Amino acid sequence: MAEPKKLFIKTYGCQMNVYDSERMAEALGNDGYVKSETAEDADMVLLNTCHIRERASEKLYSDLGRLRKLKLAKPEMKIGVAGCVAQAEGDEILRRTPFVDLVVGPQTYHRLPQMLRSNTQQIDTEFPTEDKFDLLPARKVQRGPSAFLTVQEGCDKFCAFCVVPYTRGTEVSRPVARILSEARGLVERGVRDITLLGQNVNAYHGAHDSGDFSLSKLLRLLAGIDGLERLRYTTSHPNDMDDDLIAAHGDLPKLMPYLHLPVQSGSNRILKAMNRKHTAESYLRLIERIRDARPDILLSSDFIVGFPGETEQDFDDTMSLIRSVNYGAAYSFKYSARPGTPAAEKPELDAETTDRRLYALQALITEQQRAIQEGMVGRVVGVLYDKHGRNPGQMVGKSDHLHAVHVDDAHGVVGELVQVRITGSKTNSLSGVRLV
Ligand code: 5AD
Ligand code: SF4
Repeated sequence: MAEPKKLFIKTYGCQMNVYDSERMAEALGNDGYVKSETAEDADMVLLNTCHIRERASEKLYSDLGRLRKLKLAKPEMKIGVAGCVAQAEGDEILRRTPFVDLVVGPQTYHRLPQMLRSNTQQIDTEFPTEDKFDLLPARKVQRGPSAFLTVQEGCDKFCAFCVVPYTRGTEVSRPVARILSEARGLVERGVRDITLLGQNVNAYHGAHDSGDFSLSKLLRLLAGIDGLERLRYTTSHPNDMDDDLIAAHGDLPKLMPYLHLPVQSGSNRILKAMNRKHTAESYLRLIERIRDARPDILLSSDFIVGFPGETEQDFDDTMSLIRSVNYGAAYSFKYSARPGTPAAEKPELDAETTDRRLYALQALITEQQRAIQEGMVGRVVGVLYDKHGRNPGQMVGKSDHLHAVHVDDAHGVVGELVQVRITGSKTNSLSGVRLV
C-alpha cells in the first residue's frame, strides 16, 4: 500500500476557522491524507487564514515566505491558502507568492480534493448556491468531549469597520435537520459539550418542516439530545437577542451561564459611526434582562479602541460601560483599517493614543476578570474534564462559566462531568477539589 500523504493545517483567527480546518482535514482524509504535526514533513500545507485585522494577513505572507524555502527543497509539496484572506485577496496571493498551488475561499472547501488533483494553479473564491457542509464528508474524527458546530455563516450587519460581510458573504443558516444529525453524531462519538458557531449566530433562522427555527428553538431541540450536557453559542449581536433566547438562558439547564455579547464601544457617537444600530443604554438594558433570566451568567465582549474620531470622552464612555457591566472576560483590539470598509476612508488616530487606551481598557478588564474569578472561590461548579494536567493526579477541564479549572483527582477520566469546589484562583485559571 502507498504511504499516506501528510497534511499540515495552520489555522489563524476565529473558532469558525478551527471548525472549517477540521472539516477540510476530513475531506482530504478521504483522499488519503493524514494529519502531520509540522510543515517540514508534510506533502500538503494548508493555511486557513483570517482577514479581520491587518496583522492577520501580514502573518500569512511571512508564513508563506518560510514555506517557499521548504518547497524549494521539496518541489512536490503542495501549498494551499484557504479562509478569508484567500477570499479577499486571492488574485494578489497568486501574484505575490506564485509558488502557492491553490487558493480557496471559505464557501468552496468541498471542492478542495478536486482542486488538489489538478497540476495547475487553482483559485476558487465563488459564493456558490450549494451548501458546502452538505457536500463535505460526515464528521468521523473526534477527540475530546467538546466540539464546535457551525450553524450559521456570514453577516448582514455591515458594521463600518468589519470585513466579514464581504469575506464570508451574507447570512446563511443551515437547516435544522442537518444540525441535529451532526450534533447526534458528535454525541455518539463522546462529545458532551457543543458550541454553536456563527458570525452572527443569534440571527439564526434555519429551515425546519414546521417553519423556520430561531436560535432559541434550535437550542431547545438540541437540549433534548441524551448524553449532550452543555450548550453554548457564539458570536451574537445585541440586536438579535430576542425574548425567547433570553428566556432560554433561564429555563434551559444545559445552556451554560456564559455569553459573549460584543458591544465594541460604550459611546453612542462611536456606535453610530460604527453602524452598530444599538446604543450603550439599549445594551445595558439588554444585559439587565439577561441577568434577570440567569443571574450568575458570565458576560464577555469585544472592544475596538481608537476607532476613527474616538475622543477622550468617547473612550471614557466605553470605560464607564465596562464598569457598569462587569465582564468576566473580553477581547480588545486596536482599530485596524480594512480596505473596502466604510471606516477605512476616515483618518486614523495616532498610535500612542490608541495604545494608551488599549492598555487602560485591558487593565480594567483584567481587574474585573480577577475579581469575578476570586468570587468563584468556595463555590461548587460543574467541570468537564478535557485533559490530564501536567502534574500527576491532576485533571484539567472547563467550568460551566468557561473558566479553566485544575482539579486534584487521581481517578479522573477525560470526558467526565464532575462537581468541583473551587479553592483557588490564578491569573488564567481556577483550582479545585472534586466532590463525589
Ligand atoms: N479592527 C479592529 N478590530 C476589529 N474587529 C473586527 N473588525 C475589526 C477591525 N477592522 C473585532 C471586533 C469583532 C472581533 C471579532 O474583531 O471587535 O467583534
Ligand atoms: Fe462584523 Fe460582527 Fe458587525 Fe457582522 S455584526 S459586520 S461580523 S462585527
